[in-house]
Amino acid sequence: MMEENPKLFGLVGHPVQHSLSPLMHNAVFKKLGLNHSYSAFDIKKDDLGVFLDRCRDGNFLGLNITIPYKVDVIRYLDSLDEKAKLVNAVNTIKFEDKIISGYNTDGLGCVRALEEAGEKIKGKRILILGAGGAARAIAFQCSLEGAELVISNRTMEKAMKLSKEIREKLGKRTLVVNFSESSIREIISTTDILINTTSVGMHPKVRRSPIATDVLDPELTVMDIVYNPIETQLLKNAKRAGCKTIDGIGMLVHQGAESLRIWLDIKAPIDVMRRVIVEKLK
Ligand SMILES: NC(=O)c1ccc[n+]([C@@H]2O[C@H](COP(=O)([O-])OP(=O)(O)OC[C@H]3O[C@@H](n4cnc5c(N)ncnc54)[C@H](OP(=O)(O)O)[C@@H]3O)[C@@H](O)[C@H]2O)c1
Repeated sequence: MMEENPKLFGLVGHPVQHSLSPLMHNAVFKKLGLNHSYSAFDIKKDDLGVFLDRCRDGNFLGLNITIPYKVDVIRYLDSLDEKAKLVNAVNTIKFEDKIISGYNTDGLGCVRALEEAGEKIKGKRILILGAGGAARAIAFQCSLEGAELVISNRTMEKAMKLSKEIREKLGKRTLVVNFSESSIREIISTTDILINTTSVGMHPKVRRSPIATDVLDPELTVMDIVYNPIETQLLKNAKRAGCKTIDGIGMLVHQGAESLRIWLDIKAPIDVMRRVIVEKLK
């Protein structure tokens, strides 16, 4: 049965034309018999505030926010949840009684994907490659869940800044290592899970990997949050080295499912979300 009060949802970013979010969320609405719709909105930076005001006054219930507005959007919001405050970035907003609230579901999406693949986080040493927006959300969430974190980023200062913020906000120590083959080789011998959060290997430069194959150890679990292609060069190399591998679709699906929970208080059908994305990317 269709809902009598259809709501509008969407993704805001620039560019957004290749986003898989409309496909994924509309598949959920269809599966659950909800008459809501989800669209992609390519918005220029100067128009962001006006666009959000229009959504607030219209029939919108929620938006996802993507590159490059995850931080910029904060100035237009009325409230931020604890996670978004910690990360200082927002990927989900909800309109409720003219109030706009901001959330961040990226970190939880990553942790849920790890758990779904059978990984425990507490007490594990996790090496995060990268210190950009996604890395920040993942680092805070993994730290909250009791992981021992190591961060390595091409621009060392960004890794140091993230480490300092985690120490100041959560009181947890995070190791920072050089983004060099020798430093990564050394740390990998004591690492349980490696998560690539850099954009290296993403379409169209699909032959690239952020680290050399011979630093990979078969004891290691390797997750790549890049999801296009589904099996990145890093994951191919890791599989060949005997590692357990986890692709980026899990995080994409789980961060979306958490947004749906925030907006509609529903348990999203993960299998449907995964299937439509895999079909599209194949
Ligand atoms: N699966 C999911 O649900 C999901 C969710 C969010 C993001 N992602 C993916 O994650 C990736 C990163 O997204 P983001 O939002 O964190 O982007 P971002 O904020 O722009 O960060 C990019 C990161 O990649 C590093 N990097 C870029 N080019 C590099 C290179 N040639 N060599 C080494 N490092 C390089 C950057 O290092 P510097 O700091 O040195 O520039 C930075 O750490 C993207 O591919 C995105 O599609 C996936």
